[in-house]
Amino acid sequence: MKVLIVGGGGREHALAWKVAESLQVNEVFVAPGNAGTANEPKVSNINIGAEEIDALLDFALEEQIELTVVGPEAPLTEGIVNRFQEQGLRCFGPSKEAAQLEGSKDFTKQFLVRNQIPTASYQTFESIIEANRYIEEVGAPIVVKADGLAAGKGVIVAESVEQAKQAVSDMLEHNRFGTAGNRVVIEQCLEGEEASFICIVDGEDVLPLATSQDHKRALDGDLGPNTGGMGAYSPAPIIDAKMEYTIMTRIIQPTVAGLLREGIRYTGFLYAGLMISPEGVPQVLEFNCRMGDPETQPIMVRLKSDLVDLLSAALNGNLGCVSAKWDSRAALGVVIASGGYPGSYRKGAIISGLEGSGSDQVKVFHAGTAMNEADEFTVSGGRVLCVTALGEKIAASRHAAYDSIKTIYFEDMHFRTDIGARALHGTTTSTV
Ligand code: AMP
Ligand code: GLY
Repeated sequence: MKVLIVGGGGREHALAWKVAESLQVNEVFVAPGNAGTANEPKVSNINIGAEEIDALLDFALEEQIELTVVGPEAPLTEGIVNRFQEQGLRCFGPSKEAAQLEGSKDFTKQFLVRNQIPTASYQTFESIIEANRYIEEVGAPIVVKADGLAAGKGVIVAESVEQAKQAVSDMLEHNRFGTAGNRVVIEQCLEGEEASFICIVDGEDVLPLATSQDHKRALDGDLGPNTGGMGAYSPAPIIDAKMEYTIMTRIIQPTVAGLLREGIRYTGFLYAGLMISPEGVPQVLEFNCRMGDPETQPIMVRLKSDLVDLLSAALNGNLGCVSAKWDSRAALGVVIASGGYPGSYRKGAIISGLEGSGSDQVKVFHAGTAMNEADEFTVSGGRVLCVTALGEKIAASRHAAYDSIKTIYFEDMHFRTDIGARALHGTTTSTV
């Protein structure tokens, strides 16, 4: 079987690596991929961007691709799955309609309230005056979100009324996030511990993947600006069997069933970003219509089942008949970013020490990497690598990941030294 993976980040490297392990798979193409996918056995990159749906479709038809797996949200919200399905191609991911769960925060909030699924109270605004009035009424802290896709940067957790008003003005008046910020969702600030709950969905049945948590802030101690994610680990200690049951019955199953009742059949990965209150009540912060990055990396190193079997079962509507096998060990991934990320950063630096940095226990997934003419690995994106290790417990996987990082170097490299601290000590104090 030939498989196409759409995207070029660490998540897509992990998906391509896992898919290539399947005995059913002869060839994996990644569009556009990175230097890591280019060097993976059975895997090659194609020079098509993740959002070039026409070109991807032509390629898939020509190469007789039997399964396409879409990594990032943008092509999903643009309807790549609808387009592939119209041509009779099997494409794993939600349709354009279903992807609104990530594409519009207002759509999702309305859906959650209508279906009595727990989430922060909120209102949506297009008018600055009304938004400001609401902010004054509720007070700080308060959260301001651009309605549309903003690459993980459209959420401002405002500590003061002034900061919240500034965020509204940036979005509604100064077009900071383009059309994504033409509408803002303003919501109650929730307290607790965040966790990611990611599932495979076949329209009706749900297969939860191993639990995970990521670290969104750029700096140690969960400080600094929000990023796409600076590291992640699996399992998430906060999600025990009882909590998993609560999340499935109060959040995930009502979401899938509610969508179906409203005429939307959700097939694909479904990622619930949750805040678990100190009393142990999970609430929805957001939905993503894809796997998380970097959560995918530790989740994939723990997956023992054939990923192609699981995705095929979902596409066939047979998910209820399969289960996933997981490595009982813990996995932890540390993202190495370019200095300056998530702001501007330099491209082109040469990455050394990658040879020999992997082992049975450690896998280095690439994200923003390329090869130069001298066949050296170079930096081409903000998040560059995700060094992911398995260990008996989180502490051991963490030790192995950080140990392996010691050999890797590029100018201005930056990584957090406290990935997993919350799982180990319940705080994010740096201890490495
Ligand atoms: P989102 O893209 O909606 O997940 O938001 C990005 C990050 O902002 C989340 O991971 C949280 O850390 C934070 N956040 C979003 N909504 C809230 C909320 N209602 N209360 C507190 N923090 C939030
Ligand atoms: N790690 C957060 C995300 O993928 O949205």
